[in-house]
Amino acid sequence: MNKKITITDIIDKKKAKIPITMLTAYDYPTALLVDEAGIDIILVGDSLAMVVLGYQDTVSISIDEMLHHVKAVTRVAQHSLVIGDMPFGSYNISVKEAVANAVLFMKEGRVSGVKLEGGTEMSPVIEAIVKAGIPVQGHIGLTPQTIAALGGFKVQGKSANAAKKLIEDAKAIEDAGCFSIVLEAIPAQISKKITESVSVPTIGIGAGADCDGQVLVLHDMIGLFDRFTPKFVRQYASISKIISAAIKEYKDDVENKKFPQEKHSFVMSDKELKKL
Ligand code: KIV
Repeated sequence: MNKKITITDIIDKKKAKIPITMLTAYDYPTALLVDEAGIDIILVGDSLAMVVLGYQDTVSISIDEMLHHVKAVTRVAQHSLVIGDMPFGSYNISVKEAVANAVLFMKEGRVSGVKLEGGTEMSPVIEAIVKAGIPVQGHIGLTPQTIAALGGFKVQGKSANAAKKLIEDAKAIEDAGCFSIVLEAIPAQISKKITESVSVPTIGIGAGADCDGQVLVLHDMIGLFDRFTPKFVRQYASISKIISAAIKEYKDDVENKKFPQEKHSFVMSDKELKKL
């Protein structure tokens, strides 16, 4: 499992029609599990803000908070390609700042590429980052960083006009140099059209089965985020219940003097003890 996945491997998977797997991870233990499972791409997503750091949305998270977690993931990932999600404000102010911040993700975070949200309007930014030698993954459809402008967590591209705009966006960011594109919360028929009209892989989340790959937020799919579970998530485990039961059992054991037992304790020899 040790061969490191490259950007070329991801692009080749689309050509070979082999589905691409992507999951988020944010720290050493989650990255280790995802990497060892052989997932193609680990996204250190800014969903970190909500599922780990307790923010209400993804807008507030800073580049330093992102980098802190990115570094933990890149320290451990041997196999998966690691992509760092650029947080809101780190690429929206100027092209120059966007390139400088993407460079930080590469130099300090040691990622293999960055992801950023936005369509046609982000093309100049994507082009400049790619020119600096940094692979970029695009993200269109429901873009949580601009939720205020979108009017909430809503499915995007439901009208013919909105769908046309999404197809144009996908082509524009492909032309700007994206090596793949995340499609979030888009009708399945539109994701299929986008997937057929671009040469780079599409990775869907709530975008149907016809994308070139799929991504989920790890904490959603293992049942470790309690606030809400989007319709598009399949929960493969209920980890919160297991953790909660273990914590309650520990509390009971301590309160009832069942823990620690002799096997969890250290002992001094009787000879030494007598000298006390
Ligand atoms: O931040 C994130 O986890 C993401 C995925 C939902 C694609 O952007």
